Amino acid sequence: MRTETEQTIYLKDYAVSPYRIVSADLDFKITEADTRVRAQLTIEPNPGTAAGTPLVLDGDELALGSVAIDGAPLVQSAYAADATSLTIVEPPLRRFVLETEVTIKPAGNTKLMGLYRSGGTWCTQCEAEGFRRITYYLDRPDNLAVFKVRITAPQAVAPVLLSNGNLIEQGDAGDGMHFAVWEDPFPKPSYLFALVAGDLGSITDSFTTASGRKVDLAIYCTHGKEDQCLWAMDSLKRSMAWDERRFGREYDLDIFNIVAVSDFNFGAMENKGLNIFNDKLVFAQPETATDADYDGIERVIAHEYFHNWTGNRITCRDWFQLCLKEGLTVYRDQEFTSDERSRPVKRISDVVTLRAAQFPEDGGPLAHPARPSQYDEINNFYTATVYNKGAEIVRMLATLLGEAGFRKGMDLYFERHDGEATTIEAFLAVFAEANDVDLEQFKTWYLQAGTPRLSVSDSYDAASQTYTLNLKQETQPTPGQPEKSALVLPIKFALIGPNGSEMSWTGVTGGDVRQDMIVLDAASATITFSGVPSKPVPSLLREFSAPVSMDSALSQADQLFLAQHDSDPFNRWQALQDVGMGLAVAAIDGTPWSDASVKALSQAMAETLASDTLDDAFKALALSLPAEAQISRTIGKEIDPDRVHKVRKELLKAVFAPLALEMLNAYLALSSEAPYAPDAASTGRRSLRNRLLALMVASDCAGAVGLAAQQYAGARNMTDRLAALSASTLAWTPDAAKLLGDFHANFAANDPLVLDKWLAVTASVPEDGVIERIQAVLADPGFPKTNPNRLRSLMGSFTLNNPTQFARADGAGFRFVADFVAEVDKINPQVAARVLTGFRIWPMLDQSRRDAAKVALGGLQTKGSLSRNTADILARMLA
Ligand code: PHE
Ligand code: ZN
Repeated sequence: MRTETEQTIYLKDYAVSPYRIVSADLDFKITEADTRVRAQLTIEPNPGTAAGTPLVLDGDELALGSVAIDGAPLVQSAYAADATSLTIVEPPLRRFVLETEVTIKPAGNTKLMGLYRSGGTWCTQCEAEGFRRITYYLDRPDNLAVFKVRITAPQAVAPVLLSNGNLIEQGDAGDGMHFAVWEDPFPKPSYLFALVAGDLGSITDSFTTASGRKVDLAIYCTHGKEDQCLWAMDSLKRSMAWDERRFGREYDLDIFNIVAVSDFNFGAMENKGLNIFNDKLVFAQPETATDADYDGIERVIAHEYFHNWTGNRITCRDWFQLCLKEGLTVYRDQEFTSDERSRPVKRISDVVTLRAAQFPEDGGPLAHPARPSQYDEINNFYTATVYNKGAEIVRMLATLLGEAGFRKGMDLYFERHDGEATTIEAFLAVFAEANDVDLEQFKTWYLQAGTPRLSVSDSYDAASQTYTLNLKQETQPTPGQPEKSALVLPIKFALIGPNGSEMSWTGVTGGDVRQDMIVLDAASATITFSGVPSKPVPSLLREFSAPVSMDSALSQADQLFLAQHDSDPFNRWQALQDVGMGLAVAAIDGTPWSDASVKALSQAMAETLASDTLDDAFKALALSLPAEAQISRTIGKEIDPDRVHKVRKELLKAVFAPLALEMLNAYLALSSEAPYAPDAASTGRRSLRNRLLALMVASDCAGAVGLAAQQYAGARNMTDRLAALSASTLAWTPDAAKLLGDFHANFAANDPLVLDKWLAVTASVPEDGVIERIQAVLADPGFPKTNPNRLRSLMGSFTLNNPTQFARADGAGFRFVADFVAEVDKINPQVAARVLTGFRIWPMLDQSRRDAAKVALGGLQTKGSLSRNTADILARMLA
């Protein structure tokens, strides 16, 4: 069963607040010692509120000074403050101004929620429930208010003072202090509030909107890093233009500011007019950032910018609706990247991410619907399910409705709900209405957890020239949801004829078939195509049109046929993956591959590499075998990660070692003297070249170890250097230890974001001794245990990318991570809880490993005094 505690919050209990705050006038006085926050909140009773209904404001770690209403101080008996709230016992039943004064201590705020210090800079993070750590408030997303903010701070340490909206006044405040006043005309929920005060450099630019308004753009950062913000600025301007073109959405303020900070719990935050970013998603220069970093910056800059309409102008009624803004905004940023770069390559990468991050969540103890119906701690629901599956659901909607139908729905959404805090139901309703369709069953995608399994079989009858497809969908039970219903699956498809081109048919019965798409909405369907002159090979789930896991009954020969002929690039890639998966899974189950079958895959890989129609980025993705975690998930139970690792390695060698010469020649031909550029073509070229290097090293090709060392030493950008390093460390070549040491000394030691790369590589080495090495890093007194990036690079990589060491049979990996979680939980509960989620693989491991995991988790449970974040994950993990 689902765990229930006294803190559990249920969607069904949602109720409008008896009061609403219509405007907030905040006055911050920041000093080195502490910060005093004076709030004047204009409050009204909502319709229907009875006289005498108390007003309960949220608060957390606030030292309350005074409380007054309409200028008159309240007597002690008129209010009550405890650890989580301030209650006004009997507020007036009319509009009034509540004035409070509290003191907070940003310097000691290691949870990084509310107002805290990062480096010397004061900054805020309020989503989801951080604003209550700044002042007493109705800290819920359905309370929209206009904010006016006065910031007073020491001029010397904080020359830059920022908040949301427009700067309306600034000046000297005496005693070495100065002030600024910001006003945001757009009513917003408290989670979008932001404030920054610090000594920061900046770059500026501007963007003229479609209607001709000039917007001043600025990115603020630590002095000296300004040059590293140019790519982020470029990405921002392209995002602004794209949202106008694709969705007709213009920016609405005259200023758009971004601030990069070093200590941040997530990637970035879409605060109105003042986005705050984890600096790893802002800073880029070729010597220190990889292509993947450039990619991430472009994507997240776009994501946060797109939130201005999907999140800020239209926000969430309550936190259960989180995927209303996140799933939709991820869909939008995916589309942006697809339009700016290569659509097929983007789709494949997104599906790789979905399978690596969301499918394991959906199939494990932490499974939850994209719109959950209960939570203990909302911060634990910023998940791949809400974000990535949420985006897949929006994508299916677009697939089902077509581009024009989808756009009509989006237009109606913006028109009807602008300025509101709304729900998934309202979102679906605009698409239903604009397209005159019923989306009742489709809604189940938001409510039901678990990845549907789609099973397919087929038959062909030559005499009657009919081809039959049998489709069946099934979703396994997930925590709290024993029964599952059938979902609406848009299955894009084609029937491929013997000459490799698409076949047509004259008639179809037994299913909803729309040109290139089957819509399966029942548990099963038998679809018969007539007038099919020869037996086709079906290409199903093209573009990965639904987030399911598909069992196809295709033979290896048919899969290789698709790999060669399918005009859908996604399925071409998928077909090669399927062949590799088939061989790996069978071998792990005890059926070794035949020479012929490996040779066939090897041959297909060679043809892919040699193709002059496929682009480099696609080839880089195609020349691979499914990751170990993928293979384990496909097997699904009694996993021995050592065996998976060993078999995959052998298969890799068997497939790629015969291509040594082709790979080397291609590698050499891809070398380039051109200066680094982050465009799609250059990135693709590097990714293929580095893929080939990794394959040559992993499959023990002669000279590959030296080639990697040579590339490492001669690299002129971080992409090539890091690729050479990790190819060496993953295969633990004779050079690996030396290269790791060199990278630390010469590149990582003085740059925290490069150090993160060293930490991640170090933690991913699939060899004994890695735990001791990580422990040594953590024991170094100079290692910043308060910085989320450092901790995640080290421990996130270990739990997610190092299955043989994390899930060691002797339990040492589990014990180590559990101890780490207990320690860091006292500093930053969000980071601790996130690291703990790595344990979600435990139910599918073999008996001895399951026992070891249970012992480690049980030990953590007896620790007591865990944060709500960590206790919630732990309880679900053990339920
Ligand atoms: N809303 C942010 C985003 O997705 C994520 C975030 C959540 C950041 C909570 C900080 C805290 O864009
Ligand atoms: Zn987001």
